[in-house]
Amino acid sequence: MQIRPFELERFYERWEFRAELMLSSSDCESLAVADLMALESDATERLLGLGLGYTEVPGSLELREAVAQRYERIEPEDVLTLAAAEEGIFIAYHALLGHGDHVVVEAPCYGAAIEVARSTGAEVSLWQRRYEDGWAHDLDALERLLRADTKLIYVNSPHNPTGTQMGVATFERLVEIARERSMVLFSDEVYRGLEHDPADRLPAACDLYAGAISLGTVSKAYGLPGLRIGWLASRDPTVLARIRDLKLYTTICSSAPSELLLALALRHGDRLVGRNRALVLANLPLVEDFLERRSELFAWVRPTAGPIGFPRVAGQHDVQKWCEQTAEMADVLLLPGAVYGQPRHVRLGFGRANLPQAIERLDRHLG
Ligand SMILES: Cc1ncc(COP(=O)(O)O)c(C=O)c1O
Repeated sequence: MQIRPFELERFYERWEFRAELMLSSSDCESLAVADLMALESDATERLLGLGLGYTEVPGSLELREAVAQRYERIEPEDVLTLAAAEEGIFIAYHALLGHGDHVVVEAPCYGAAIEVARSTGAEVSLWQRRYEDGWAHDLDALERLLRADTKLIYVNSPHNPTGTQMGVATFERLVEIARERSMVLFSDEVYRGLEHDPADRLPAACDLYAGAISLGTVSKAYGLPGLRIGWLASRDPTVLARIRDLKLYTTICSSAPSELLLALALRHGDRLVGRNRALVLANLPLVEDFLERRSELFAWVRPTAGPIGFPRVAGQHDVQKWCEQTAEMADVLLLPGAVYGQPRHVRLGFGRANLPQAIERLDRHLG
């Protein structure tokens, strides 16, 4: 398999645990195991008594029931657990795509969505959204990319890195386009629940269309990325079986403690996600205020969903170098847009409790 380096994760591999203040994170404030244990009175006893044998390939029934509860039309047998969403991208693409296939991927996007698709041998076309158009979703442009051999469309809403959300009418039309052509709609919904206005929440793709795959995780909205567990949901048993077959070559089954902790977190999902949504909403005005004061340097399309935004940086300097210097000198970590093929942009994250300190430090650094 030929695959290009994952530039975003390479950057974080180098910097994430070196810089003191994270100002670009796509996840929200994380929880401790003790916080989860406090959610149910028998949780500690269950965790301590848990056997550490292999678990069921698709995930325990208890867990798949808890996942199915988060959807309208999903049953436990429509769910496959994963070692976090990243595994889902890898095994879904490799199970469903190969030489001779064509796939359309929304861009900019989390790099795995493009590079793993390319690594299958499929031809990849980018459905490119643009800052100059307010990151609009141009469905006519999407339709122009579609071909007889287009097998799958990947979309991500709420969106990494722009923090924007697809409108419901656009999403419903997109589902219709996929249905009319019997294409798989691979819908990356890892930020679902963090819409700034809950009225903007989209239906899950797997509820609207049997040929869709919804990708979920607790890494972002729940603040539990260290569990390394996520799931896929689809009402197409053939698609799900092919992906499950590939999982037998990657992780086989999920981590037993993570399964237990995920089921527990999902049963209290509204509370856990609500806490992080409140933090995002409290932090966003601080970021807006900062960007307004620094408007000679930054301009953005205001995010409406999720804990990240993607300002454009004015001037001709090398934004990536500037991010690295800021990490070295001010101990504040920004993510250069170059990792998304957008070298004039920078990703900001505002889902962490220490956001005020990080903004203040960056402000001071800028002088
Ligand atoms: C859009 C998107 N999909 C998938 C992932 C992978 O998530 P996980 O950490 O659960 O593997 C990320 C992580 O940043 C992401 O932003």
